[in-house]
Amino acid sequence: MMLEQVTKVHDESRQGEAFAPQPAVDQTYHKKFYIESYGCQMNFNDSEIVASIMNQEGFGATRNYEEADLILLNTCSIREKAEQTVRKRLQEFRKLKQSNPGMLVGVLGCMAERLKAKLLEEEKLVDLVVGPDAYRTLPALVEEAETGQKAVNVLLSREETYADINPIRLDSNGVTAFVSIMRGCNNMCTSCLVPFTRGWDRCRDPYSVIQEAAALFNNGYREVTLLGQNVDSYYWVGVSPESAQEETITFASLLEKVAQINPLLRVRFSTSHPKDITDEVLHTMAKYENICNYIHLPVQSGSTRVLQLMNRTYTREWYMKKVTRIREILPDCGLSTDIITGFCTETEEDHQDTMSMMEFAKYDLAYMFFYSERPGTLAARRYQDDVPEDVKKRRLAQVVELHRRQALESMQKDLGKTFKVLVEGTSKRSENDLFGRNDQNKVIVFPRGNYEKGQYVQVKVVDCTAATLIGKVV
Ligand code: SAH
Ligand code: SF4
Ligand code: F3S
Repeated sequence: MMLEQVTKVHDESRQGEAFAPQPAVDQTYHKKFYIESYGCQMNFNDSEIVASIMNQEGFGATRNYEEADLILLNTCSIREKAEQTVRKRLQEFRKLKQSNPGMLVGVLGCMAERLKAKLLEEEKLVDLVVGPDAYRTLPALVEEAETGQKAVNVLLSREETYADINPIRLDSNGVTAFVSIMRGCNNMCTSCLVPFTRGWDRCRDPYSVIQEAAALFNNGYREVTLLGQNVDSYYWVGVSPESAQEETITFASLLEKVAQINPLLRVRFSTSHPKDITDEVLHTMAKYENICNYIHLPVQSGSTRVLQLMNRTYTREWYMKKVTRIREILPDCGLSTDIITGFCTETEEDHQDTMSMMEFAKYDLAYMFFYSERPGTLAARRYQDDVPEDVKKRRLAQVVELHRRQALESMQKDLGKTFKVLVEGTSKRSENDLFGRNDQNKVIVFPRGNYEKGQYVQVKVVDCTAATLIGKVV
């Protein structure tokens, strides 16, 4: 989920006919752009906003970069490796540009924001550098770049939410879509670059969120995922268009409003911060059948001492209480997490605390990383990156191994159970199978029969791997 990843992703959930419902490649456009996305779901959603802005300017999307007039890389800075991947890709495009000098190459997203004009010097053949809050100026910057000037806009904003822009769904399966509800982050976790690359936390007008989700539903979509770095801190005060009174909307009330659009529209959300998720959110989830019982609740570490150094502002015990509360209110809730191994000063004992936290929480899914020091973060300024790389990696391997075992156990628990599955498309492995996900976000593959994507079917689990349930429609 929050892994650095190219448009193709490891699981089946993003597979599908590229560009399905919207004719993104349209002969009436006078120019073509190609976009590649890295990083979190929010970045993927931003690419859809960029596509919409470029469409307005007469640029149609293409899946073939060789025929593009403009190549855009929407980048991620979260770990050093994410940036290395992008640099390699830029080198490939540099070669392409030698044979096609008219083609423009632009860097968008978090690397653009972090490195700014330095990118133009380091990556000589980059023509454009545009930060996450400056996409409205992209067409003007492209024009500037077309005259041979280097174009840069990395201004961050306190207000920009792109609320009025209707994203063009790239690589869409026509069934599931992301809807951003907020941008930026103020949490200042010491390891993290996001507050620097995405700027201050700001919330999108709830009625524009509802409108976008309702329009998706009317266009045949059956699932929306509400996105933000910390959705539980969503907060909006304004005049309700319904009652004309001033109202306060929290994440729980926004979730409820989106769930009320239609019982056939599934609602998911990501990411929840353990310090902010409330009982009210959990009760709202319990109240609406179409709000999926699945929570991504990144723990980062199981050691209170390390959590404090990370500025996560909760303790091990606080986190455990949240998990217990989730299990009480939503007994069948799927739970996933993010874990960092080898953060500054992490001892063997701290590491064992992370392992025992995993035993306690029994995560269905985990995204696991070793700590990668990022220039300019609070941790880089305050602490020494003192855990040797081989120790970080060994601890990561142990965490991954434990998770693999737990994930398989979690899947095996579902054998014999029947789930309501939203069909998302044809399985990667076989033309004869469809795949979809259950409420808890587990992927289920089953024989196609006469079913189609966008339908809900009841599937009984007959077999599993550590990543996929295998079933048959009942
Ligand atoms: N807003 C989300 C996380 C966004 S970043 C949250 O707070 O939960 C996605 C994940 O990247 C984080 O959860 C963390 O596990 C990881 N991460 C952040 N900074 C990192 C770093 N410097 N090195 C390695 N992993 C990091
Ligand atoms: Fe980064 Fe923390 Fe914000 Fe997540 S909550 S994006 S880890 S600063
Ligand atoms: Fe990466 Fe930026 Fe998202 S750093 S994880 S793309 S907010």
